[in-house]
Amino acid sequence: MWFQIDVGLSKVVSEAAQACDISTVDFSPDIRQADPRFGDFQANGVLPYAKLHRLNPRHVAEQIVEKLRSMEDFSKKIEVGIAGPGFINFKLSGSFLAEWLNLYKSENDYKAAIAQNWSGKRIVIDYSSPNTAKQMHVGHLRSMNIGDSIYRILKFCGADIIRDNHIGDWGTQFGILIMVIKEKGLRASDLSLEEIESLYQQGSTLAKENENFLALARNELVKLQNGDSENFEIWETINKISQSAFDEIYVEMGVSFDYTLGESFYRDRTNEIYQELTEKHIARVDNGALCVFHEEHEQFSKQPFIVRKADGASNYATTDLATVLYRTETLHANELIYVTDGRQQDHFQQLFLTVKKWYAAFGRKCPEMQHVWFGTILGEDGKAIKTRSGTPIKLKELLNEAKARAKKIVDEKSKELSNSEKQHVANVLGIDSIKYIDLLSNRTNDYVFSWEKMLSFDGNTAAYLLYAIARIKSILRKCDVDMANVAADCLETEAERNLVRSLTYFPIILSQAARELRPHYLCTYLFELTGEYSAFYSTDRILGEPTNIASRRLTIILGTLNILETGMHLLGLETLERM
Ligand code: ARG
Repeated sequence: MWFQIDVGLSKVVSEAAQACDISTVDFSPDIRQADPRFGDFQANGVLPYAKLHRLNPRHVAEQIVEKLRSMEDFSKKIEVGIAGPGFINFKLSGSFLAEWLNLYKSENDYKAAIAQNWSGKRIVIDYSSPNTAKQMHVGHLRSMNIGDSIYRILKFCGADIIRDNHIGDWGTQFGILIMVIKEKGLRASDLSLEEIESLYQQGSTLAKENENFLALARNELVKLQNGDSENFEIWETINKISQSAFDEIYVEMGVSFDYTLGESFYRDRTNEIYQELTEKHIARVDNGALCVFHEEHEQFSKQPFIVRKADGASNYATTDLATVLYRTETLHANELIYVTDGRQQDHFQQLFLTVKKWYAAFGRKCPEMQHVWFGTILGEDGKAIKTRSGTPIKLKELLNEAKARAKKIVDEKSKELSNSEKQHVANVLGIDSIKYIDLLSNRTNDYVFSWEKMLSFDGNTAAYLLYAIARIKSILRKCDVDMANVAADCLETEAERNLVRSLTYFPIILSQAARELRPHYLCTYLFELTGEYSAFYSTDRILGEPTNIASRRLTIILGTLNILETGMHLLGLETLERM
């Protein structure tokens, strides 16, 4: 039994086509989910094939369908027909759907069935990656959520994947910071991250107004880069304070990493990069800076990728090049995924072009590289979201507000829960809602952040899904049966069929999300599945039905619950027992 039915159908249709002397070189079945009025799946591949060979598509479809009907094992379970000019339709029988349901009931069953597409790949995914000496703000939300969800999805599909938090801990911010800290006679270890951030702001105002301060700051940065022990200690302390503030947020968001190799990790590996790129004439000096131009590229033939600044210092590009080398040579990755906002598209395009040439020149195997970029979070006024005073909203405050708003809702809706339970439900609801709204729209779009919309129990929200899950759990608690032993016999009603058909779409959607690195497909799917479940629940009773029907319907409910929960976990969302 196929877990992913479109893939299974595709194989069988190819076999049938081959048996009809249709060359598989230019025929691909192209299996899609069908309009439910016509069937469960359809093959669209006949039309382009017939066009190419100037054949009557209906005639080609008839040949394939006849062959499929003659395959006994297949035709017993799946009804085939032709629609329109030559689409082949498939309707799965009630017993086929029941068999699928009985086999794929739990998270482990899905995992076992799916884990095969990714063998031989070793992926490093780079996400979150904030800069130190600043608090995380709303702009840091998306990389964390999208990156974490993509990590979970790929891992679930069997990929060998490593999470690396590429913290920005070696930037020019430190010159200014060290300068003010010394000017004011402060001790870095006494400071909070909020204070450090505000010192930085004071310092950069000073440096803007006063040449003298600017020179001092530059000097402190050079000293740091040359290993001055006092500056190094201040730098290290600031990074520690930053990291523990980040960690608080990561704990709250349920996000973790395998490595946190910040930019500073690569600080002694930059000479090698300059040397290799120069030696093979990939980079050249232009206006004092070492630059890579990509002559074949319209934009990047003129816009340089600066790998060493005119003052001799390394930059973001240099550390990224060194990072690629470390990830492929030491971590043995053959695929790299970077999750950042869309404004960094040029940087990553230039990085990838440079790596390709550099690796080719040295006979290294070039990794696959993908920039998974995302759009902006907008306020309800349609502009990038900000506080009233115009500064970015701190992530910590945003999470607190989400929990507080959720608490109000829970106090009102879930009066029967104990106080500690209410608090727990509110925390999960608050954080899940923020994550969900962030994952819901296609990542390359901007979206509007609305408290009201995201915390609503109607519509495609975390609350809606959490509530459906909690309700199913409560039904299962009430039915006093051993869930390990329930099974479905042949499905009968329309609502049963519709719901189980939706369940079989799960692996298809999951593999689409994994292929395109877009978690929102899962959100749309879970929402539709929940709708299908509600329809089923309102028409098909469980209690009071004969044992076989009750058992079948319980199996359906259990299957639905497990896919809903697995889907939520793949998005990085926690689920609740009751609400
Ligand atoms: N620190 C960067 C920022 O805040 C993001 C780093 C992304 N990762 C990378 N390897 N460049 O924009």
